[in-house]
Amino acid sequence: MPIRYHEATKEFHLYNDKVSYIIAVLKNGHLGQVYFGGKLHDRESFQHLLEFRPRPMSVCVYEGDLTYSMEHIRQEYPVYGAGDMRYPALEILQGNGSRITDFVYKGHQIYDGKLVLEGLPATYTENEGEATTLEIYLEDQLIETKITLYYTIFEAFPAIARSAKIRYEGKDSVIIDRAMSMSVDLPDMDYEMIELTGAWSRERAVKTRRLEHGVQGIYSMRGFSSHHYNPFLALKRPQTTERNGEVYGFSLVYSGNFLAQADVDTYDTTRVTMGIHPDRFSWKLEHGDSFQTPEAVMVYSESGLNGMSQTYHQLYRERLARGPWRDRVRPILINNWEGTYFDFNEEKLLHIADTAKELGVEMFVLDDGWFGNRDDDRRSLGDWYPNERKLPEGIKGIAQKIEAKGLKFGLWFEPEMVNMDSDLYRTHPDWILATPGRNISHGRNQYVLDFSREEVVEAIYGQMKKILSEAPISYIKWDMNRSMSEVYSAVAKPEEQGKVMHKYILGVYRLYEMLIREFPDILFESCASGGARFDPGMMYYAPQCWTSDDTDAVERLKIQYGTSFVYPVSSMGAHVSAAPNHQLLRNTSLEMRAGVAYFGTFGYELDPCSLSQEEKDEIREQIAFMKKHRKLIQYGTFYRLESPFEGNTAAWMAVSEDGQEALVGYYRILQPVNGPYRRLRLEGLCKDRLYQIEGKAEAFFGDELMKAGLVVSDSASGENKEKYNGKNGDFQAKIYYLSSVK
Ligand code: DGJ
Repeated sequence: MPIRYHEATKEFHLYNDKVSYIIAVLKNGHLGQVYFGGKLHDRESFQHLLEFRPRPMSVCVYEGDLTYSMEHIRQEYPVYGAGDMRYPALEILQGNGSRITDFVYKGHQIYDGKLVLEGLPATYTENEGEATTLEIYLEDQLIETKITLYYTIFEAFPAIARSAKIRYEGKDSVIIDRAMSMSVDLPDMDYEMIELTGAWSRERAVKTRRLEHGVQGIYSMRGFSSHHYNPFLALKRPQTTERNGEVYGFSLVYSGNFLAQADVDTYDTTRVTMGIHPDRFSWKLEHGDSFQTPEAVMVYSESGLNGMSQTYHQLYRERLARGPWRDRVRPILINNWEGTYFDFNEEKLLHIADTAKELGVEMFVLDDGWFGNRDDDRRSLGDWYPNERKLPEGIKGIAQKIEAKGLKFGLWFEPEMVNMDSDLYRTHPDWILATPGRNISHGRNQYVLDFSREEVVEAIYGQMKKILSEAPISYIKWDMNRSMSEVYSAVAKPEEQGKVMHKYILGVYRLYEMLIREFPDILFESCASGGARFDPGMMYYAPQCWTSDDTDAVERLKIQYGTSFVYPVSSMGAHVSAAPNHQLLRNTSLEMRAGVAYFGTFGYELDPCSLSQEEKDEIREQIAFMKKHRKLIQYGTFYRLESPFEGNTAAWMAVSEDGQEALVGYYRILQPVNGPYRRLRLEGLCKDRLYQIEGKAEAFFGDELMKAGLVVSDSASGENKEKYNGKNGDFQAKIYYLSSVK
């Protein structure tokens, strides 16, 4: 069992061969955080790591004892007000107005496997022995409230999944004001904090800052995880690189409002907490009610940032994503959005499909504009029935015609939204989130349906089910295009309004679950104006996500690089779009655009009928290339090699599980004049194997490629070309396929 309980010292040691996590029951029954880091030999006692010393002017628990202060003890699930002065994990407002709680250890249980978190996304196990779970039971007798803390350690990953459940057994009620998914106190502050930040079209840029005393954090209060901050943060040692060194990752399996923060006290203890954002949240519990927090996944790596990311990639790809698509290579699709926007009819779409099919595309995706009277973004969201002017034979008709061509058919929905100009809104104006007497702000002319209400979710499910039952639909792109405002539910009592934002997300999860159960073979791609809901919660339902509305190859280098900190290549929707690019008006070659999009779930987002024969031939080759290598790319081990945030080049690679083959993407952004020769040091190869690089006469040993590097100099190195020949100039991509010959 990788979880030991030492009765004499009341210590829990969770470990596998890479990581140890140690918790102790303290004298006052609270839980102390003893150690989190690289694997330690198990011992009866690690008490000496807790260190109780008399610190002047501290608030202490026992009179006469100046050593026992909750201010200074490193804790597991701290509460505020009884001596700890830092931000707590839990706050409960009681009937008498007090927020003081005292949760003490009552018992525990250790078992093989992992429980399902009802209604919430979470990592899971499939086979015996994959993971072990510890449940610790705490109780505050005065307020008749219990907590269960869940810790699951995976056998094969340096990862621990955590969550908490709060249950009220008293006769009146209590209100939870804050219930974080995890809290951990680390004994020093010698870290840099990494966050993934940005805005629409520049999601998940990597930002690193030195930890300082005080609170540093990221959050969303937009109702979705957001373009602006991702529910993830990492703490790395200053000397840690992509390849080496220590790093802790914290990732929240949730798609709504969140808070993730590092609170460093002036004794240099770093408290990391993560969970549902406590602002705009309050959850009333009556007799017998429970509240389950979302899950947080903590990862520890001694092999740098790549090591941390590879753990998340594999864990999320194999034990968070579900369904038949989890392990399948993803279809190469064409999406009509940037090709036509709202301006299409059946004939035009079929023409696109014909051309795409000829080039080797496997699926046609019909994006926004197929329903109600939707010719622009001012109308018809909520009316999920086909626009017969554009599609005379409906979705069924076009889907069947597409299928008859040998292509799969996919369809766009934005289930959570409504336009005022829609039948749905005209019939149910009270179904939107809106505060009585206040202006109702719009976002892209649309309003948010109150998914905290079951009947609203049911009604949308009914509409979607009808379409999906009638037509052969293999894929759904589930979009969501605005932040929430004036959040208020027309049917919730005043004291229940603090539940609305979380219940909304539970409603989204419920709709996904109903659709997945009814249509298990459909491949879902989540989307929120690009990547505003690129989070682990979504991955549980939709194994892939539209990474960003920005399809420019140069910008995508940064977006995909940052996204890869947590999320696997198999989850990143990446399409080749037209040049000049629609977001930036930048011209890049077709080669560069595909070279970047290969490292994702590949597709095209343009009108192929408008391309020259030469371009079509190139696309045909690209698709054949991707079909040959997608398993390696989407399921291989991914390494970041050079960061687009740090220089004029970027590089990454995927290596197959057996180390037999690898695919390297190397990108040079602007052409330097008379630049240096360049070598790229590869990773993850077998040092003694000889690798043939496609297109090169010579083969190279793995050790040479990893230590001396692969020569990637191009004609910009040492030469000043007079003429543009496609292989020089700005925005170059080089893709190298390596296969072991010996
Ligand atoms: C935003 C998405 O990110 C785009 O890909 C596209 O589907 C549009 N919405 C359609 O309205």
